[in-house]
Amino acid sequence: MSRLLRIKPMSMLSQEAGEQGEHTLKRSLSALNLITLGIGAVIGAGIFTLTGQAAALHAGPAVALSFVLAGVTCAFAGLCYAEFASIIPIAGSAYTYGYATLGELVAWIIGWDLTLEYAFGASTVASGWAGYFNSLMQQLGIVIPPALTTTTGNILVKYNGIWMDKMSLPPGVSDAGLLHVTGLFNLVAVCIVVVVTTILVIGIKESANFNSAIVIIKLGIVGIFLVVGGLYLFHNPHVASLNWHPFIPPADGHGNFGWGGIPVAAASIFFAYIGFDAVSTAAQEAKNPQRDMPIGILGSLVVCTILYILVSLVLTGLVSYKTLNVSAPVALAIDATGVGWGSILVKVGAVFGLATVMLVMLLGQSRVFYSMSRDGLLPKWASAIHPKFRTPWITTIVFGTFAAIMPAFLPIDKLSELVNIGTLLAFTIVCAGVWVLRVRHPEMKRPFKTPLVPLVPILGILSAVYLMTQLMRITWIVMIGWLLLGLVIYFGYSLKHSKVQKLAKAEEID
Ligand code: ALA
Repeated sequence: MSRLLRIKPMSMLSQEAGEQGEHTLKRSLSALNLITLGIGAVIGAGIFTLTGQAAALHAGPAVALSFVLAGVTCAFAGLCYAEFASIIPIAGSAYTYGYATLGELVAWIIGWDLTLEYAFGASTVASGWAGYFNSLMQQLGIVIPPALTTTTGNILVKYNGIWMDKMSLPPGVSDAGLLHVTGLFNLVAVCIVVVVTTILVIGIKESANFNSAIVIIKLGIVGIFLVVGGLYLFHNPHVASLNWHPFIPPADGHGNFGWGGIPVAAASIFFAYIGFDAVSTAAQEAKNPQRDMPIGILGSLVVCTILYILVSLVLTGLVSYKTLNVSAPVALAIDATGVGWGSILVKVGAVFGLATVMLVMLLGQSRVFYSMSRDGLLPKWASAIHPKFRTPWITTIVFGTFAAIMPAFLPIDKLSELVNIGTLLAFTIVCAGVWVLRVRHPEMKRPFKTPLVPLVPILGILSAVYLMTQLMRITWIVMIGWLLLGLVIYFGYSLKHSKVQKLAKAEEID
């Protein structure tokens, strides 16, 4: 049992943090790069789709309060991530923090669990990206063969000249008499993942620059929505007061609306916040990680929280929350202001925005596996660094292929819940880890300190576990199944090859 609780010594971590040379990752990211990486990962499918559904079904205009609630949950975890990232500036994020504090088995579980967040997250977003891209292309008059734009076996129908998912038909519209096509293979999703993977292999600086350029476009489009919508509401205050009243619609007796609907909506829009923690996976590529990691993690979280609250207020001010249960609620709302180009603009924003979410998710995934392989818990190929590009190229390509194939063939509607549960479990362990390390090593130098320990970690754990309890049973079952598969690999391979175990054995013999 004690073998499973072995922790990775701080001396080993510090040595890895100081390594240089062609077989190591390249330290080239500034604080601004890290903030934009965070924003690149966070603003995506969540804000462009889930906000409307959460308002229409669970919270009404009070979805803005749900964003505050989910933002606070993320802030507790973000503060804990920031402390760890400032102490342990090497790749691997929650996996590495778990290894330094809670022992090898917990570290393995968290590393394996992060696959749910990053690899499955990239797959989910690739599927969403394909949906937005197809819709934008059709609006621009470019038709891609519909059977190549969706998951194998999924049914598309042609409605009002547009191919769409059968499930997305407006309420009351029957598919009888409409043209049908059965999905063959989601080639569009494969193509975007291939592009993103190629950029990631070519270099971290190139990836960060690509991300920064797109983040500027993405923020610009969110900004235009806020300005156009905000000005409209300023000139038409009666529209806002009509739509915002009542701000918290009465409870429907099924857990929706009323005060009780706010946390339910918070659990569903939590997906919109996922990604700020991915900044911490790039710790080994930051120029000045001790100072810049907390700035990157907390800075991106603050920017996104403010934007989300503003977007949800403007959205529910422009149109009645009752009309927002559609796949592109932000496009619907901007159309209500009367500008003709609104929905195209929002779709362009989503197409760009979702590309960087995939980029940072796949970046995070490859860095976690890189770290696990460096520790001997995974085979050596996972930490092979390309001598010219200085990126973990094999693991990047492996996960790129995984993320491309999943949405190409598999229906992944419920995958976002799996991404939520995987992330919340990582948050829980990181919060616990900060507290444990404070108790075990109070003397350690902490360039960034989480305030009010243990209160903040405890609140972080409680709020993450609470949101996990709001997720479906099937999500829990799949997560447990995934973790059990991970344990088979741990006991079958990792425990025997672990460098920390070998070191401990050598010390015992001495
Ligand atoms: N937060 C990311 C998104 O909303 C995962 O797409």
